[in-house]
Amino acid sequence: MSDQPRRTRPSGKPYRRPKKDPVRILAFEALRAVDERDAYANLVLPPLLRKAREKDDFDARDAALATELVYGTLRRQGTYDAVIATCVDRPLGEVDPPVLDVLSLGAHQLLGTRIPTHAAVSATVELARVVLGDGRAKFVNAVLRKVAQHDLDGWLERVAPPYDEDPEDHLAVVHSHPRWVVSALWDSLGGGRAGIEELLHADNERPEVTLVARPGRATAEELLGEDAAVPGQWSPYAVRLTEGGEPGAIAAVRDGRAGVQDEGSQLVAIALANAPLDGPDRRWLDGCAGPGGKAALLGALAAERGATLLASEKQPHRAGLVARALEGNPGPYQVITADGTRPAWRPGSFDRVLVDVPCTGLGALRRRPEARWRRRPDDLEGFAPLQRGLLRTALESVRVGGVVAYATCSPHLAETRAVVADVLKQVPDTDLVDARPLLPGVPDLGDGPDVQLWPHLHGTDAMYLALIRRTG
Ligand SMILES: C[S@@+](CC[C@H](N)C(=O)[O-])C[C@H]1O[C@@H](n2cnc3c(N)ncnc32)[C@H](O)[C@@H]1O
Repeated sequence: MSDQPRRTRPSGKPYRRPKKDPVRILAFEALRAVDERDAYANLVLPPLLRKAREKDDFDARDAALATELVYGTLRRQGTYDAVIATCVDRPLGEVDPPVLDVLSLGAHQLLGTRIPTHAAVSATVELARVVLGDGRAKFVNAVLRKVAQHDLDGWLERVAPPYDEDPEDHLAVVHSHPRWVVSALWDSLGGGRAGIEELLHADNERPEVTLVARPGRATAEELLGEDAAVPGQWSPYAVRLTEGGEPGAIAAVRDGRAGVQDEGSQLVAIALANAPLDGPDRRWLDGCAGPGGKAALLGALAAERGATLLASEKQPHRAGLVARALEGNPGPYQVITADGTRPAWRPGSFDRVLVDVPCTGLGALRRRPEARWRRRPDDLEGFAPLQRGLLRTALESVRVGGVVAYATCSPHLAETRAVVADVLKQVPDTDLVDARPLLPGVPDLGDGPDVQLWPHLHGTDAMYLALIRRTG
């Protein structure tokens, strides 16, 4: 299977503004925005849904269906491309991108939802008529009739190479991930077929919304009063909204006492805060703080301990988001805009330091359905010097006896263990701290001393954490 998403040719023809079937039209518009403008589905969709909801004929069920159509079509794009490629008479790169979007939407309804076949085909052909015109609607009709000849399993048997011949290609097609991502995840996860299949499957599931009750400002009990809210699995501050819901409608979230935060991110902040320390525990640093999720939790934990947090972020607008996240923090803090590789502070002046470095985000594929198709193996080389530079500076910034947490939301070994190993070779008098006891009750943390969380094992993003102490 190709790792290249197929919409390489920009569309020359504008599509007509549609009038009917607002759900599919909205889904199509969202897919076009993701395709044409490199937009993020999770940013493009909410305003489109809000606008549609202002009209009487678009209700919550329509919004749920539109969301499912957009997210499902994007996640499953690799599988659907393989299917559609066998049903058209030319390479996918030669099919107009808007036509491919309509075909993918149709394929998702046929192969990935319970929408009856005739309804999926006729509604998609009608959509094609409105947004593409009659001629291309005929083409869509012909292709979708071929797609409808088999269910998903039937198609996978036909389009995926046998596992025994090419395990990675097989998994790439069946679970709709680029092949290089399958390889990288498998390298990091280790083990046999069952584990990687479970992980890839989990990447295609929509994650629950998890909230954090920022200590000293809100309690998990308070958030448990929300609809379908249950306690988090690992973090004492976490509450999961099992039926999704709108976090923005929750008072504690609106006024910043609580936030939306994956439990993996909460665990990183908690582990750093609880790492054993001899001597003073007064000054904490978050060296890559934007947009501020971990900084807000660290700030609240620091306040409980009478410590101060300095939250530093290179991008001014993201530093603004950090300032907003920390507003109302019960203890002292400061937010600055600074390059974390050229510290604006004295060396050795912090007791605890977090560097949650920029990375490929391959650990958060559940949340960003299009991300897997946008990332390239070359991206790793781009991040490598920055990740090393930020960790080196973090180690210089912490006092002797203090602790640095190096975190990524990617499990790729080139961004996790390779960075830590390289930097520790260069920086003398540093020791890895066993992070596992700092995540009490969390199973399957491997041999340590660093930890890698996984969606299929822990229900979290695949966050990586290494704790490093400066010893001399
Ligand atoms: C993975 S994000 C951090 C997420 C954050 N810890 C949170 O939980 O909300 C990495 C951040 O590092 C910032 N960054 C990139 N290069 C940087 C640099 N040289 N110095 C400091 N921050 C940098 C990015 O702008 C981005 O906001």
